[in-house]
Amino acid sequence: MDKKMEKAMNEQITKELYSSYLYLGMVAYFEAENLGGFAQWMKIQAAEEISHAMKFFNYINERGGTVILEAIDKPPAKYVSPEDVFKKTLEHEKFVTASINDLYTLAKEINDNASLIFLEWFVTEQVEEEKNPSDILGKLKYVVNQPAGILMMDKELGARALPVFQPNGEIAGG
Ligand code: FEO
Repeated sequence: MDKKMEKAMNEQITKELYSSYLYLGMVAYFEAENLGGFAQWMKIQAAEEISHAMKFFNYINERGGTVILEAIDKPPAKYVSPEDVFKKTLEHEKFVTASINDLYTLAKEINDNASLIFLEWFVTEQVEEEKNPSDILGKLKYVVNQPAGILMMDKELGARALPVFQPNGEIAGG
């Protein structure tokens, strides 16, 4: 496996694991606020990020590369509202999208067709990853400072089904 790609994908593992950690911090905030539905939604998001990391983990190994795990930064612990959380989620997903795009560009530059095909899944996934928090933000703007509206959204988001994660990073359901 190309050394530059190996290094960049190892860095992506850390970014995906940080994403999970960031979202777990948001789960903690929602739990503390007694917003169990928001917490459930974000818990699933945190688990999905582990599966994203595992896809890169497995791919590096399949290509004969070596996975090197780095330290994961401490995520923020304080949020002021559900809107604040989802603004930061969207911001973070945009950062991840840019990082996936950089990997895609690198694969093109070094003519790494296998990585291009592998990365296509992530290019598509990032559309969804930005759309979800963006849709939620679109609804939250109607209920800012309205507890009844927030509680309705809490119920709606709590209905997100728990997917089943496979060790290879595949997800069933959810
Ligand atoms: Fe792994 Fe939310 O991007």
